[in-house]
Amino acid sequence: MSRLPDHYFDRIYAAAEDPWQLSTRWYEQRKYAITTAMLPNRQYRHAFEPGCSIGTLTQRLVERCDHVTAIDVAEGALQVADERLRRLNCRHQVTLAQASLDQPWPQGAFDLVVLSEVAYYFNAGLLSAVLNRECARLMPGTTVVAAHWRHEVIDYPLTGDIATDIIASTHGLKSIGRYCDRDVVIEVFDTGVGASVAMREGLPGVVR
Ligand SMILES: C[S@@+](CC[C@H](N)C(=O)[O-])C[C@H]1O[C@@H](n2cnc3c(N)ncnc32)[C@H](O)[C@@H]1O
Repeated sequence: MSRLPDHYFDRIYAAAEDPWQLSTRWYEQRKYAITTAMLPNRQYRHAFEPGCSIGTLTQRLVERCDHVTAIDVAEGALQVADERLRRLNCRHQVTLAQASLDQPWPQGAFDLVVLSEVAYYFNAGLLSAVLNRECARLMPGTTVVAAHWRHEVIDYPLTGDIATDIIASTHGLKSIGRYCDRDVVIEVFDTGVGASVAMREGLPGVVR
């Protein structure tokens, strides 16, 4: 069982502060807007964001979450994230730590888990084992969102589509919504009964 090694990402961040141009590309801004728009709850208490990179999605998550615990394997990425979140005056809402998605997830009673552009760095066996182990510890009603690039990348063990299918097969996760275009697939899951937004809001006429 394996994943791309930490030094793969250290090398990338040694060469560029924002290697995927997450802070400047319209593609990323649009994708973040879709991802956050798909979250079924208006507000979350505590999100877990593995693979936070330089904090560009983290800065959007703090608008919807009281607190975010964000981890990354690359120290270079975390330094830039730290600076970004300080500049935006939201550093106090974020715990940053150097850690890998396959390590035991931090304690935190998370009600949101954000797997954005990180699952395809794992092979199928490890990704499935980690998610089955850690999602079983999440509270009922936790939202899990997965957003991944669909085009093949030669270095990556999985495509975004296969990574999303593996996440969808995690025991106890129910899909409550999916967006897919030629570039990206975004799927939202729930560890509870899989209630729709209208059900959560008690809209009249909703069939359960
Ligand atoms: C393409 S960036 C994604 C950034 C952000 N999640 C987003 O969607 O914009 C991928 C990040 O995942 C990190 N990463 C790679 N493998 C990881 C692992 N096993 N655990 C945690 N982070 C990892 C990399 O260092 C990199 O910063």
